[in-house]
Amino acid sequence: MTEFSPRHEIAHLARVELFSPKPQETEDFFTKFLGMYVTRREGQSVYLRGYEDPYQWSLKITESRQSGMGHAALRASSADALERRAKSLTQGNVAGRWSEDEFGFGKTFGFQSPDGHNLQLLWEAEKYVAPADLQSKILSRPSRKPLQGIPVKRIDHLNLMASDVTAVKTSFERHLGFHTTERVVDGEVEIGAWMSSNILGHEVACMRDMTGGRGKMHHVAFYYGTGQHLADAVEMFREYDIRIEAGPDKHGITQGQFLYVFEPGGNRIELFGEAGYLHLDPDSETKTWQMSDIDTGLAIGGAKLPWETYFTYGTPSPLQLDQHIEQFAHFGPGAPAPEVVAAEELAGAPA
Ligand SMILES: [Fe+2]
Ligand SMILES: [Fe+2]
Repeated sequence: MTEFSPRHEIAHLARVELFSPKPQETEDFFTKFLGMYVTRREGQSVYLRGYEDPYQWSLKITESRQSGMGHAALRASSADALERRAKSLTQGNVAGRWSEDEFGFGKTFGFQSPDGHNLQLLWEAEKYVAPADLQSKILSRPSRKPLQGIPVKRIDHLNLMASDVTAVKTSFERHLGFHTTERVVDGEVEIGAWMSSNILGHEVACMRDMTGGRGKMHHVAFYYGTGQHLADAVEMFREYDIRIEAGPDKHGITQGQFLYVFEPGGNRIELFGEAGYLHLDPDSETKTWQMSDIDTGLAIGGAKLPWETYFTYGTPSPLQLDQHIEQFAHFGPGAPAPEVVAAEELAGAPA
């Protein structure tokens, strides 16, 4: 017998909370453009779900002075798996706290990544049951596809910016049983890691914060499952003045189809077309991309991911997006980063 493996103890990314200084505009972005349903309002927060999200919500928008990620929660694959993963973190000297205070979900273990991101684990989740007027004829679909915007099916993955990619990656592997499917190295330094607990190429990714900041969110992604939707969505965003960062194109890393935009509150959102390469092989090896091949890794079709935003901007950001672009206009490989206020000074509780 081999030692017990934590692989597959985490099922998937269940939900993310985003902070927004422009909560109404952020809500409009997710409802009018991405066709998400509002399932609850409470205090300064609104809860939303895509039409194929299985639970009461996958996205919570909370009004805050700063944009950024409030928390991200991963659902364990069983009640026992949750206990084992929480125990592993605690025994690994990762401080954690049990709570049970979120609408639609039960007992939750909250902790921080080595870079300070707020993460949670949970098992108990209330399944969404649509009222009669929202029921779908397709039985595997928890609610009818809405006639609004270009609707996303569900939340897909999370990308964290970190000062130390290896520390975050190691923590996900050791305590949560994630497998690193692909990574990028610059010499000896890991600058990106794509990690999964299931057959997807990644549920969580981590990329180096080139500004030296800590604990920011790079993006949260929502899933279409159809590449054509990205071409339609980018026209919609252009027509209605949503800021487009890059795409549509296809990453070499993960083979996922991407489109990156900024929601009005300043958080980067990725729209994901086809899911990319599925890891059906249970003991596949981690693929390592070198910087010499990075152009293929980033975008097979040649889309440019801009240095002044993609590799430097995450939320919470010390600078508004426009100011950030101005300051980082001449930043690039080998160029020194401009001096900005450390992100952690601005990260904090909602206003
Ligand atoms: Fe992504
Ligand atoms: Fe991406």
